[in-house]
Amino acid sequence: MKGERLMTGRATEDARRAIEDAVWAPSVHNTQPWRFGVRGTRISLRADADRRLDVADPDGREMLISCGAALYTLRLSLRVLGYEPEVRLLPDPDRPHLLADVQMEPGKPAGEETERAYAQVRRRRSHRGGFAAEQPPPSLLDAIRYEAEREGARLIRAIDVHVQGALAALTDAAEHIQRRTPAYAAEIARWAPAPGTSRTDGVQHAAYPSETPRTEPHFAARDFARGRGWGIEPTADGPASHPGVVMLLVTAADTPSDWLRAGQGLQRALLLAAQHDLAAAYHTQALQVPRLRDLIRTQFCGDGHPQLLLRLGRPVGEDLTSIRRPVPEIMIIES
Ligand SMILES: Cc1cc2nc3c(=O)[nH]c(=O)nc-3n(C[C@H](O)[C@H](O)[C@H](O)COP(=O)(O)O)c2cc1C
Repeated sequence: MKGERLMTGRATEDARRAIEDAVWAPSVHNTQPWRFGVRGTRISLRADADRRLDVADPDGREMLISCGAALYTLRLSLRVLGYEPEVRLLPDPDRPHLLADVQMEPGKPAGEETERAYAQVRRRRSHRGGFAAEQPPPSLLDAIRYEAEREGARLIRAIDVHVQGALAALTDAAEHIQRRTPAYAAEIARWAPAPGTSRTDGVQHAAYPSETPRTEPHFAARDFARGRGWGIEPTADGPASHPGVVMLLVTAADTPSDWLRAGQGLQRALLLAAQHDLAAAYHTQALQVPRLRDLIRTQFCGDGHPQLLLRLGRPVGEDLTSIRRPVPEIMIIES
C-alpha cells in the first residue's frame, strides 16, 4: 500500500513535470487553451473553451491544433521521463472538450533523437518577420515534413512563385477584412495586451517587432500593436527580406481528431526544425475567413484540408520572447 502510494506520488510529480513542458507548445495568440487533470498515472487533456477565439475560431479548430501541439510535447516529455505514454484521442463522444487521456505506462530510457527534440521544447519560438536568405537543405525539409506525417498531418511546400503570391495576397485580403471588422479587431485587442501587463498569456509586446520587415512576397503580419508603436525595436542586423519556405499544414479530413493530429504534427516538425535553428512564422488570417479557407483548400491543398499557413527559415533580427501561465492555473490533481 505504502509502495503504491510512493509510486503514485512519483507519477504525480512526473506528470507535473511533463505538464510544465507541455505548456511551452505554441498556441493561437498564446491563448494556452488547455487544462490538464492528473489522476494516478493518467493525465487528461481538456480544451478550455473560455479561451477559444469566438470570432476567428468559432469551431475551435485552432484551439484544438494548439492543444494537439501541447499533447505532443506532453508525450515527448513523458518519454524523456522514462514512460511510454498511451494516448486515447477524444475518448468520450459525450464530452467533446475531453481531448485525450494519456496513460503513463513504464517505458524504455529515451533515445538520442527524443532527447534532442526535447531539448528544443523551451527554446523553440515563433518568429514574426523575415528570414535569412539561405534556404534549408532539401534533405532537412524532407525530414521536417516526415515528422508531421508521422503524426498524421502533411506539410505541403508552396514552391511556385504564383502560389506563394496568391497565398500572400489572400493573407493580405483576410488581414484587411479582419482589421475593418470590429468583432475581429476587438478579439485581437483582447489577446495583445499593452506593454507592462501582468498577464501571463496573449501575444505581448516582446513577442513581435515594432516594424515588420517586408519580404517578397509579403505575408501580412497580425496587427498586435494596433498603431500604438508597441513591439521590439529592430536590431542592427538590419531587415531580413526573405519570406523563407512557405508551407501549408494539411490533414486528410477536417474533424476534431484531424485538428489534434495537425497540432501534434506541427509541434513534432517544429522541434526538429529548431534543432537546426529554424523557426516558423504563422499567417492564419485567411484560414479564419471561411470563404478564403475554402479557396485555399480547393486551389492549393489537393484533397487535403488546410490547417495552418506558415513560413519556415532561420530568423534574423530581434530576439522575440514569450510567456506562459503558471502550471497551478491549468493543472488539477483529481482524487
Ligand atoms: C494554431 C496557431 C495559429 C497561430 N496563428 C498565428 C498568426 O496568425 N500570427 C502570428 O503571429 N502567430 C500565430 N501563431 C503563433 C502564436 O502566436 C504563438 O505560438 C504564441 O504566441 C506563443 O509563442 P511561442 O510560439 O513563441 O512560444 C499561431 C500559433 C498556432 C498554434
